[in-house]
Amino acid sequence: MDLHINIPEHRYGSLVVLNDIKFDVVSGEIVCVVGPSGCGKSTLLGIIGGLVEPASGEVRFSGQSHPDCLNPLTFVFQDFALLPWLSVKDNIAFVLKHHNLPRGVREARIRDVLARTGLSAFADAFPKQLSGGMRQRVGIARALVVKPAILLMDEPFSALDAQTREILMDDFLNLWLKERITAVHITHNLNEAIRLADRIVVMSRRPGRIKKIFTMAVPKHERDSPDRTVELLKVHDEIWSLIKDEAVHANEEMAYG
Ligand SMILES: Nc1ncnc2c1ncn2[C@@H]1O[C@H](COP(=O)(O)OP(=O)(O)O)[C@@H](O)[C@H]1O
Ligand SMILES: [Mg+2]
Repeated sequence: MDLHINIPEHRYGSLVVLNDIKFDVVSGEIVCVVGPSGCGKSTLLGIIGGLVEPASGEVRFSGQSHPDCLNPLTFVFQDFALLPWLSVKDNIAFVLKHHNLPRGVREARIRDVLARTGLSAFADAFPKQLSGGMRQRVGIARALVVKPAILLMDEPFSALDAQTREILMDDFLNLWLKERITAVHITHNLNEAIRLADRIVVMSRRPGRIKKIFTMAVPKHERDSPDRTVELLKVHDEIWSLIKDEAVHANEEMAYG
């Protein structure tokens, strides 16, 4: 399934948050959206996922989703959003509750996502017994269990320490190499975008506009190769030069109102 986003403007009351946001997401690609705090990234993801009604414009879908897809769009949140009183398995089962799947099918789906996210041994653990990294694996497993057409990821690795983030990014990349998951991945971490994205949408500070869309020339499986470091650093510098001033201003706005 492809996504076609066209939001001429979004505002909350008199506060204009998004301006002229237009891009597509093609099935099988990861599109990362980067931009300073407060530029409207979460709002944009909320509009894509149907949580926020856009003031103008629309998000269209085209093409077919997987025949087993129960929900075309699912979210992965920064704070994991797990239910603390349910085990890992039951947190995942929770999102299947309202779908009338035969018990065997439901259990097979849960086993499958646990295996794909490296959680098989933790099925009966409770969230408080898990590290942040493992909790976010549950967040990802829970999103994947409905076989979504598109994953909507709002800073999914931002709450994790640097090493855990690396590990989860690697795992997510490996999953992508096997399954070609389609995702819109929001981050303020440029390195994360450069590691994961097929394309990077760079936004300005609020009202968020698209400054530029970068297409990554280096294939994802070569992004950690030393031979590609110079090329990737050039992309990093180019994007950083676009967002540096914006980030400084956004930071001052946040600090001084
Ligand atoms: N529900 C809302 N009502 C009013 N203002 C909001 C609401 N949600 C977000 N905002 C404001 O819109 C701007 C963009 O917010 P957000 O989309 O969360 O940005 P980002 O995710 O890029 O940090 C911010 O100034 C924020 O305070
Ligand atoms: Mg946000």
